[in-house]
Amino acid sequence: MDSLFLAACRGQSTPRPPLWLMRQAGRYLPEYREIRSNVTFLELCKTPALAVEVTLQPIRRFGFDAAILFSDLLIPLEAMGLEVVFTELGPSLPAPVRSEEDLARVRVFDPWESTPFVYETIRLLKDQLGDTPLIGFAGAPFTTATYAIEGKTGKQFIETKKLLNRDPKTAHRLLALIESATRSYLLAQVAAGAQAIQIFDSWVGVVSPEEWDEFVLGPTKTLVAAVKATGVPVIYFPNGATTLLDRISKVEADVYSIDWRLPLGQARARLQEGASGTFAVQGNLDPALLLGREDRLRLQVAKIVGEGGGRGHIFNLGHGIYPETPIASVEALVRAVRGQ
Ligand code: CP3
Repeated sequence: MDSLFLAACRGQSTPRPPLWLMRQAGRYLPEYREIRSNVTFLELCKTPALAVEVTLQPIRRFGFDAAILFSDLLIPLEAMGLEVVFTELGPSLPAPVRSEEDLARVRVFDPWESTPFVYETIRLLKDQLGDTPLIGFAGAPFTTATYAIEGKTGKQFIETKKLLNRDPKTAHRLLALIESATRSYLLAQVAAGAQAIQIFDSWVGVVSPEEWDEFVLGPTKTLVAAVKATGVPVIYFPNGATTLLDRISKVEADVYSIDWRLPLGQARARLQEGASGTFAVQGNLDPALLLGREDRLRLQVAKIVGEGGGRGHIFNLGHGIYPETPIASVEALVRAVRGQ
């Protein structure tokens, strides 16, 4: 029998929504900070025994219904030949890609050769997770491209917008290269044992409808189709883009992860306008509610569970959990979702 999580991914009814949290492994957990105090973030990502341990920490503590591989969105960019450094302020790429000449520095890579630690981590996790399904992930082509172009987490994404609109040919080529590299990276995750794949489009909320149609839909849909062809469900997370949901469902993902800016029921209806088949939804609690009062949290959880309708709904946050989140709030969330 499928786990609650995989059943919901397939659009089936579940006695309660399965629950996991974006960024569930990380700094809000004292046991993560303990391990992290001895190694750099990149070392943590690249040392399978440690990556396994921090992946398992939130599962042990909260019994979430799915685990997510501990890694980072920027790992494939490094494998594509771009230098990546992590500072206190987040990731940065000293030599961003902003012209046709810069494209020469970007290469499609052999995943088994360049990122073997990812697949070793997955294999080790599969031995230890038992019945808990494992989610693999990567950035969507657009979001990964924003890091290549901006050289950091963007604010206005001016450099990205400039490339799209000054040199659309180079933008298309960069997106196609990233899609191709991400495709082999994700197919290898599935081969190693990942049972679902989430594609994070964290910054796609900055594109216009026209830019979505011209630049984003094509490579995203190609990537989703390639992963779906393996038989594992694909979750697509278009953060901040609820105004584009009718266009977004044309990527034909199995599951859409919804941010907190629209009620889940309305999100489903907007997705339905562009969808050619059935789909499930994931979300969509504002992670900031975990910083507030428990009564307000419980009220919103009940509302979301109601809108989820007990069918094809995975409970999650609308974006990653904040590092300042109290453990007690996560415990309260787990109880609320389980109807306790
Ligand atoms: O979800 C999980 O528990 C798995 C691990 C995971 C991390 N990053 C660990 C991480 C996942 C799925 C990601 C994805 C990721 N990385 C995204 C997409 C999700 C999203 O939040 O939109 C993005 C945009 C990144 C890029 C990134 N990595 C940024 C912007 C930062 C700095 C900001 C921050 O939160 O510190 C990181 C660092 C990072 N990735 C940390 C962790 C646990 C913190 C590093 C540390 O321990 O110092």
